[in-house]
Amino acid sequence: MASGRVSHLGEWSGGMPFFLAATGAAVGLGNIWKFPYVVGENGGGAFVLVYLFFVFVIGLPVFMSEIIIGRRGRQSPYHSLYILASEAQHSRHWAKLGGLVTIAGFLILSYYSVVAGQVMAYSVRVASSAFVGMSADGVLNTYNVFRSNPETLLAWHTVFIVVVCIVVSRGVKKGLEAIVKITVPALVIMLLLLMVYAIYNHSFLNGASYLFDFDFKKLIYARDVAGSFIIDSSGSYQFTFKGILMAMGHAFFTLGLSVGAMMVYGVYLDRDISIGKTTFFVAIADTSIALLAGLAIFPIVFAYGLSAAQGPSLVFTTLPIAFGAMYFGNVIGSLFFLTLFFAALTSAIALLEPSVVWLIERSKMTRVQAVVWAGGASWFVGIISVFAVSGANLRDTIFVITDFFSISDIDLGHRIFNLTGFQVIDGIVTLVLLPVGGLLIAVFVGWIMSAESSRYELNAKNPWVYTTWRILVRYISPALILVIFAAGLFEWVNKYLLYQPVL
Ligand code: TRP
Repeated sequence: MASGRVSHLGEWSGGMPFFLAATGAAVGLGNIWKFPYVVGENGGGAFVLVYLFFVFVIGLPVFMSEIIIGRRGRQSPYHSLYILASEAQHSRHWAKLGGLVTIAGFLILSYYSVVAGQVMAYSVRVASSAFVGMSADGVLNTYNVFRSNPETLLAWHTVFIVVVCIVVSRGVKKGLEAIVKITVPALVIMLLLLMVYAIYNHSFLNGASYLFDFDFKKLIYARDVAGSFIIDSSGSYQFTFKGILMAMGHAFFTLGLSVGAMMVYGVYLDRDISIGKTTFFVAIADTSIALLAGLAIFPIVFAYGLSAAQGPSLVFTTLPIAFGAMYFGNVIGSLFFLTLFFAALTSAIALLEPSVVWLIERSKMTRVQAVVWAGGASWFVGIISVFAVSGANLRDTIFVITDFFSISDIDLGHRIFNLTGFQVIDGIVTLVLLPVGGLLIAVFVGWIMSAESSRYELNAKNPWVYTTWRILVRYISPALILVIFAAGLFEWVNKYLLYQPVL
């Protein structure tokens, strides 16, 4: 059943720009600094297989659902869900789900930008040969000095948000499409160049085997902090779900779902383009780029006798040692940080766009005004994370409030307020908002929207595509997302609230 609605906000010029934009959104810092390490630590090829399985049974069905909602509603997530819920004669409270995902994206942007700002700063530093000949301690010290300075962090956070705002303010064709056409192919080319460098580097095979060696034992058996397998009293290995849960969680996180970005990208998508095919290729591209990143990074890490790491410690304290020691390290290093910057930029654009579209619709603002408001607000919230990076915990950050209520005397409050603002925002978003959003998106499209509407929007030639998708989205994805939700919450509470010594 056709909806007859059209987008009042712009359109992609074809399937390719949509593919690039969605891939750009999905490929973020997580692909480069998290995935390769997690793969290596959890059984290489064995982990990749399990992860791909979850990408197809958890991530892809929700991804397709987001596009269906956007392309059918042709409005911001909030208003699309409002219209579609009315169309299905269900409660209009479903619109709140659109609000929830939009807020989640807005909050992620606030801290993503602080990290991306540091990436920008480091690309300048590495290019200026600041790390040449520096020891591991020197590099670590440089990073500690850099991040303990809130003014510098704030300045780079501001620069990054401004760049994102400029792109988004130019609209779908001249802004989003124009930038992803350059950055996404450039990102792949730069990673290929880095990999070629790694091939000439004698540790390529070490890096490749770290990533690809099939080790089911590492995936399913528990290890201690030193990395040796834990053997129980009967002499057998101890089974753990950790690796499998990690594969599930990352499969969901990596596609950039649950923040309304894919819904909005669906709004701009022409009806004739196949949702099943394009989303499938986005998932493949996302994983391929993440593996490519691993093939570029780990050979360098191992060639310089460094140990594998992930996240900020990999890029700010491990890799600069190698860049400082190698010939043309300033070129290779800036290529690497530029790659990270492009990955973060195209994700940040996707994170901002839903809030902007919502403001345009709601307040009849121009796009530029909406960008200033949404981008400005995200910049402001990001200040919490600036303080977090430079070492302040939540109590220091909002000490006025906590002092007022004497919250620090309450045990649980004490522990929560000892976390940094970043840990709290990140915890709320990735552990609660993203899984709850994903679950409700699956429930909405699988159970609330009529089968005719979703079949019409999916528009698959092969009837099996629709049937398989519908079973996944109604039963399998929601059930598995619940598992991710429960496991994530359990781990967070354990890690931050229960076992942390009270100071
Ligand atoms: N997928 C991104 C990464 O791998 C991070 C991310 C999570 C994201 N949710 C998002 C990016 C939503 C854009 C939109 O780093």
